[in-house]
Amino acid sequence: MYRHPSLRPLSREHHFTLCFAKRLMALERVDSELLEARWPEIRERLGRFWQDSLQIHFRVEESHIPWQCLERASYERLVGEHCEIRDLFEHLKEAGQPDGFVLGRLGRLLMQHIRWEEHVLFPPMQEQSGEALAAIEHASEELQGADPAWLLPVPGRSAAKTIVE
Ligand SMILES: [Fe+2]
Ligand SMILES: [Fe+2]
Repeated sequence: MYRHPSLRPLSREHHFTLCFAKRLMALERVDSELLEARWPEIRERLGRFWQDSLQIHFRVEESHIPWQCLERASYERLVGEHCEIRDLFEHLKEAGQPDGFVLGRLGRLLMQHIRWEEHVLFPPMQEQSGEALAAIEHASEELQGADPAWLLPVPGRSAAKTIVE
């Protein structure tokens, strides 16, 4: 799918976030004892991904997408979904015990949100003025990219499968 160069930094982060979301959904199916044993590490990586990457990504989108040219309903959907995702990250990074259902729910929400941005929100943005797109490209300099250290281990999977999706 064609992506305007100004939107590519956000799209690159979407790709990583989809891998992250798949790991979250896989965690929902992991045996609860195995999950509990690895929970401190998983929780720490969840927190780092949220803190160092995703919350910055959300801020860039909320503040710099050229909303004046797009439908208000799209802005409301984006902010509503960001809020829901933010609450789940905040809940999980404080949780003493893992909750497979909440991990899976967060994974599904992230996947649905990113697919909507890529397939519905971004295509009409590519028709916007060069100035509007330059603003989002400039704001995207804040993005941190992707660090493999944020990826979640999935207990019970082979090490190779844990590293390469
Ligand atoms: Fe978003
Ligand atoms: Fe996004």
